[in-house]
Amino acid sequence: MTDSPYEHHAYDVLIIGAGGAGLRAAIEAKQRGLTVGIITKSLLGKAHTVMAEGGIAAAMGNVSEEDNWMVHFRDTMRGGKYLNNNRMAELHAKESPDRVWELEQWGALFDRTKDGKILQRDFGGHRYARLAHVGDRTGLELIRTLQQKVVSMDTDVFMECKVLKLVHDDAGRIAGCVAYWRATGEFVTFEAKSVIIATGGVGKSWKFTSNSWEGTGDGHAMALWAGAKLIDMECIQFHPTGMVWPVSVRGLLVTEGVRGDGGVLRNAEGQRFMFNYVPEMFRAETAETEEEGDKWYDDHTAGRRPPELLPRDEVARAINTEVKAGRGSPHGGVYLDIASRRTPEYIRRRLPSMYHQFMELAGVDITREAMEIGPTCHYIMGGVQVVADSAATAVPGLFAAGEAAGGLHGANRLGGNSLSDLVVFGRRAGMGAAEYIEAGDVATSFDMEEAETAVKEALAPFERADGENPYTIQHDLQEMMQSLVGIIRTGPELEEAKGKLDEFIERVKNISVKGGRAYNPGWNLATDLPSMLTVSRSTALAASLRKESRGGHTREDFPNPDPEFAKFNFALSCDGGDWDSPITAAESPLLPMPDELKALLEEAH
Ligand code: FUM
Repeated sequence: MTDSPYEHHAYDVLIIGAGGAGLRAAIEAKQRGLTVGIITKSLLGKAHTVMAEGGIAAAMGNVSEEDNWMVHFRDTMRGGKYLNNNRMAELHAKESPDRVWELEQWGALFDRTKDGKILQRDFGGHRYARLAHVGDRTGLELIRTLQQKVVSMDTDVFMECKVLKLVHDDAGRIAGCVAYWRATGEFVTFEAKSVIIATGGVGKSWKFTSNSWEGTGDGHAMALWAGAKLIDMECIQFHPTGMVWPVSVRGLLVTEGVRGDGGVLRNAEGQRFMFNYVPEMFRAETAETEEEGDKWYDDHTAGRRPPELLPRDEVARAINTEVKAGRGSPHGGVYLDIASRRTPEYIRRRLPSMYHQFMELAGVDITREAMEIGPTCHYIMGGVQVVADSAATAVPGLFAAGEAAGGLHGANRLGGNSLSDLVVFGRRAGMGAAEYIEAGDVATSFDMEEAETAVKEALAPFERADGENPYTIQHDLQEMMQSLVGIIRTGPELEEAKGKLDEFIERVKNISVKGGRAYNPGWNLATDLPSMLTVSRSTALAASLRKESRGGHTREDFPNPDPEFAKFNFALSCDGGDWDSPITAAESPLLPMPDELKALLEEAH
């Protein structure tokens, strides 16, 4: 074991992040007889996984017998506007049902059909009712189940431990990481044969977000600094329905399950405006009248789906347009109405968290009144570029899964595909890491100098007497990203954002922090800001280069998709490996699609 001046731990597999992907990866590695350490800067059981409320997508065919993996594959590719890694989409569609049944065996209590099968509900962009769910608390049930399994396997979990940087060996392989305890501010090094990044998303760089304080893109940034590539960073998902009022909870998620269970969107004039926003691609299967749409809920084999169940990118843009046209609600959103369409008993049973959330936080009874909602930054489709089957990155020994990995969702993710992503690719990352270790060519040293440099950088804010407050920088960054790199973008605004981000680099270099290292939230934020800046710079750069509109990337100056841009992802690298090093982009051709998968898409057309 390496001689470290700090508290030091060694594992076969080190997992950074304790959401669904990290926990599922840990189970896999443990089952393969490896030693596993999980690090989370938060608490076990608290992760953005719980914000996937409405369900986990898996073609089990319990509600619609016609459903199968091929339709799920097609829906995922189409929802992602064909920018997806087709192998990931194939594995995901094929393996999701097994992962759901496995969760059930491990104790997850899904809602049931009348004949006792796992119940599935409608969600946007899914051809059939496909989301296995537990009311509107599915992510919570998933994480509770995985957490129990991990604990039962006697896995080491390091909570409130913030990783600063990955560490290599002298041959460039991943050898572990350096971190600090939030409680004491003491540093700690972790040595590992392989590291899995499962740190979730980046939403805290935007002002209105469903993400909690943890969503600062640490894993995205650390992987990039360590030599991995990031793809699709321009593709940010603004979930159509976040709370818009009261201001203190603006951005908090309102599950798509409300629309899946019959809720509809109306503007201030009472119009179901989504009928005006059906894109050509979805016209054949989308209802043209309210009556036709309503039939869908009663009989999934008849009629066409209501337009509220279009993919999220379409719905979020439509809401944005309505508000901009002056047809918004008093607090700058639109109305989501389930009260006039379902009984109070049904709403309370199917959507218990939404009922309580609106009642407690806004004093709104959703069984009687419509909710005011608007788009909220929820998810990043982009992430670390990985090999589909193994979750391996370009850096030997480094793996990535879940929201931190890119590829599966292309330019836009379908709701419910994130929970299935976590368990399908969490498992695969565990397998990939185990196979890498079995092959034997693992790190043979731990570059303590790399760790020491990160420690020195982390401590620098204490040495500056008159620097800037980290909270001011965070506030300004969120305002800037919301207004210049938000839901609708333009070339000049993106150039302005890139210029401002360069200024933010200088501001972060000048942060000063008061007090000691123990439980110092200002210092904790100071150590998050380099990651937040790296992901913001990556998003702004890729968004400025993608001169078209596709999925979660909309350019007002290039409003249509351009087939030339459907041939590659922008793959970003960091030349220098430090948080302030230049980030460069190159075209990375999409994985060629095998003929049998192509045929599935052609059939759909
Ligand atoms: O709306 C929701 O329940 C969120 C689900 C998801 O992001 O997959």
